[in-house]
Amino acid sequence: MQVDSLLARLDDMVAGGESFDSVLETAVRGVHELDPRFDWTGIYELYPDDVLRLGPFVGSPTDHVFIGVGTGVCGTAVAEKRNQNIPDVRRISNYLACSTETRSELVILIRSGDLIHAQIDIDSHQVAAFDDRAVADVQRVADWLARRYQARGACPGR
Ligand code: SME
Repeated sequence: MQVDSLLARLDDMVAGGESFDSVLETAVRGVHELDPRFDWTGIYELYPDDVLRLGPFVGSPTDHVFIGVGTGVCGTAVAEKRNQNIPDVRRISNYLACSTETRSELVILIRSGDLIHAQIDIDSHQVAAFDDRAVADVQRVADWLARRYQARGACPGR
């Protein structure tokens, strides 16, 4: 799927009054289908206790359902308030392995300015899978989702 079609589909869902959870699930599935190099795609939502909690995902189940801010690639993105594009996770000491096959990982924050709502996390079995085009596409979906999080009242539980 192309990102334009995905965003149009998400707009239609909102216009049709679909639930936030359905929209989120469709977004995750849509992102996963943007690129065959995406082997695991999920959303982690940031809760007020500074813990990321796994939301909808596509791919193998992971043990990392809760991740503290500052822990792993996902928690580092929040702590540093910066997206993470890790070309080779084997070179990262602060990395939480979901699959031994994962080689590269992308975390794009879903944020409204300094307020972080959640993040899109993608793993690939290929080294350096996330080129500029992939990053830009995922960023567009993250920015779209940030507006939905903002509209429903900031972070989950906040
Ligand atoms: N690798 C992540 C953990 C999440 S799994 O990739 C699904 C991390 O280091 O934070």
